[in-house]
This record gives sequence, structure tokens and C-alpha cells, in this order.
Amino acid sequence: MNGPAPAASAWAPSAAPRFAALPPLALYVHVPWCLRKCPYCDFNSHALRGELEADRYVDALLADLELALPAIWGRRVGSVFIGGGTPSLLPAAAIDALLAGVRARVPLAPAAEVTLEANPGTFEREKFAGFRAAGVNRLSLGVQSFDDARLAALGRVHDATEARRAAAAAVAIFDNVNFDLMVALPGQDLAGACADVAAALAFGPPHLSVYPLTLEPKTLFHRHPPPLPDADTAADIDDAVREALTAAGYVHYEVSAHARPGRECRHNLNYWQFGDYLGIGAGAHSKLSLPDRVRRELRYRQPRQYLEQVAAGAPVQQATQVTREDIGFEFMLNALRLAAGVPAALFGERTGYPLATIARELAEATARGLLEPDPALLRATPLGRRFLNDLQALFLRGPPAPPAPGGALR
Ligand SMILES: C[S@@+](CC[C@H](N)C(=O)[O-])C[C@H]1O[C@@H](n2cnc3c(N)ncnc32)[C@H](O)[C@@H]1O
Ligand code: SF4
Repeated sequence: MNGPAPAASAWAPSAAPRFAALPPLALYVHVPWCLRKCPYCDFNSHALRGELEADRYVDALLADLELALPAIWGRRVGSVFIGGGTPSLLPAAAIDALLAGVRARVPLAPAAEVTLEANPGTFEREKFAGFRAAGVNRLSLGVQSFDDARLAALGRVHDATEARRAAAAAVAIFDNVNFDLMVALPGQDLAGACADVAAALAFGPPHLSVYPLTLEPKTLFHRHPPPLPDADTAADIDDAVREALTAAGYVHYEVSAHARPGRECRHNLNYWQFGDYLGIGAGAHSKLSLPDRVRRELRYRQPRQYLEQVAAGAPVQQATQVTREDIGFEFMLNALRLAAGVPAALFGERTGYPLATIARELAEATARGLLEPDPALLRATPLGRRFLNDLQALFLRGPPAPPAPGGALR
């Protein structure tokens, strides 16, 4: 061919990602049962019928992990999150066997954060102490509210007294604790939401996640919506919660997450910074970077089918490759949730593509005042935080991508 070659882009649409180093890796373990199903919940959680076969499930989780090992060979796991569902339904001995099995199969970082989600309705003091002895070093307690009427309206299995007892035990037994609170609840006014936040603060948890109630498709609340606070009240609650937590010394570091400085959830930060995660257990999601591609996996959702599929050596129901067209949106969907944003260089490190891949979208978001103009930083402006969905949608190409782990971390 005569003359210079066409300005061949090293990043033609079909180009594979290139990683100088693979992203940090976290492990998520899903426990899919609850005492009963809450009417607002769209997590992969199933009301427990009969006895929980804890040993059988832990064996399946470890077999699942073993099947996944070739995809993460030699990589260190920085954090473990045992979520649900209601993992605190499992006896402490089962969590001990699970964590011992994980440690025997993957290199766990020496100071790895190991979180377990607990429900005040399954609370026993000895069990919490047993979780800690098993190696859990962070407890995330689904308090939701300290008000009996709100808890009843949410269909929770526990009342306010149980919530207080579990909260007190959580902060006494664990150094690192999160409470989940839900706000803008049926029949809740501004004073009620503020009272719940004040009640939570009285226990001094290092981390608080505060979620406005959302009516998720396919839930009972979606079919039969309860009477909710109007939009103005919901907005006032949002402002008041943020002000109260900031005044109490918490940093509002992510849309729903507030932490004392240095107590941010490392496992969730890894999602928002577009790290890798292997998810084992029924319905668990994974994102795994390989030297030349990024793969998403979804495991079978129904507990019984999951157990059968593990036994057959094939727990993954769906595996897809993340395309270059989608990865920019997926990265921004997560990173923009962080109040401090992320360094611009992280885009290349975590996606394997240059930032130029999303140059047009970045320019538009900046021109609209939704993104900070600093070229070294990817961070929403105050306006961008207010209209976060619109900002994230600017990066969308093609059909919708899976939801970001975040918010209520579905
Ligand atoms: C998997 S659950 C946590 C552990 C445990 N299952 C429980 O509920 O106590 C994660 C959290 O998501 C929040 N959540 C679930 N569904 C929600 C919804 N529709 N709207 C807002 N927050 C929700 C709740 O605060 C809940 O604690
Ligand atoms: S909110 Fe928690 S306890 Fe209620 S059904 Fe969902 S996962 Fe289970």
C-alpha cells in the first residue's frame, strides 16, 4: 500500500482490553434464604420452608468456589462479603466451615475485611460471638427502623426492641459495624425519620447505609403500593438525614453510604471502583477480568436448582463478555456513585481501554455541568449528584447493562 497507513486506531471496536495488571479481586457469597420474604424486597431471597440444610449449602458453596478457581488462579482476595438473604440464619459453625474452606482454597489478604449480613430477627448474642470467632470482622445489621409501627408496615420479622438488642450486641462484639436503615417509609414523617437516625447514632456504628424505600418491580409493594410520604417530604428526609450524619462526623462517601473517616466498606468500594468480584452461591453475580476480556457470570437463582447444578459441576447459568461499547457505561455507573469520584487513570486500569473510549460522553457531561471539568478526575458535580441517573445515562450505549452493585446492592 502506498502512503501512510490510515490512522489505524489501536482501539478498533473489536479490540480486546489490555490490562497492565488485573483489578483487585473480592469474593461475594450469597445465602438465599430468609425467615420470610419482605414485601418490598427484590433480592434473590426465599422464605425458608422447613429446616435450613446449612452443611449441605456450605459444601455446595465450596464446591462452587473450587469450580471457579481456574478463573482466579493465583489472585489474592481482598475482602469477603457474606450477603443475602439472611446469612445470620446459618449457625456460627457453618460460617466457620465456610471461611476455613475459603482460606484453604484462595489466598486471602492478611487484613481482609470479612462482612456478614445479619437480621435482628435471627439475633442471638452467642451466635454473633461465634461469627466473630469464625473470622467475620464486620457485621452489617438490617435494622431498617427503630419504630415498631414502621417495622410492621415493612413486614419485618423483628420489632424495635429486637432491633435495639441486636444493635447493642453488634457494636459490643464487633469493632466494625454497619446498620442498614430505610427511610421515606409508609406513614413516616420527617420527625420519625430523624428519630430513627438519632436512635442509630446513639449506638455509634462506624458505618450507616441509608436507603429510601423503593418500589421494586415484581414485589408485593409494587403491586399494592403502601401510602408513602410525598416527594417534598421524601426530599426533606433526604436532606435532614445527610445533615444529621455529617454533623455527627460521618462522611457521605457514596449515594447511600455514610462512614466515619477510614471506615468505608472496602468490599463495596471495590465494586464502585470497578474492581473484580467472584460471586458464589445461588443467584450470585461475578465480574472477572481475564488478560483479554471481561466476563460476567450469573449463577442459578433457585436454591434447589443451584444445589443440583453445583452437584453436576455447572452452577453458572449465564456467562457473557462485557463489550467495549458497554464497559464505559458500567464503569461510570459505579464510579459516579462515589462522592469523591475516582482518578481518571482508574478508567484504563479497570476497563483495559483508554479514557478516549468515552471522550464524547465526558465532553457532553462536562458541558452540561454534570461532571467536574478536572481532566485528572471523574467526579459528579453537585448538579450531577442531584441528577445522577441522567448523568449515568449519558454513558449508555446500546441495550441497558446490568444494575450497578450499589444502593441496596442487589
Ligand atoms: C440483603 S438486605 C440486608 C440483610 C437482611 N436481609 C435484612 O434485610 O435485614 C440489604 C438491605 O437493602 C435494603 N433494601 C432492600 N430492599 C429495599 C428497597 N426496596 N428499598 C430500599 N432499601 C431496600 C435494606 O436496608 C436491607 O437491609
Ligand atoms: S429485605 Fe432482607 S430479610 Fe427481607 S426478604 Fe429481603 S433479604 Fe430477606
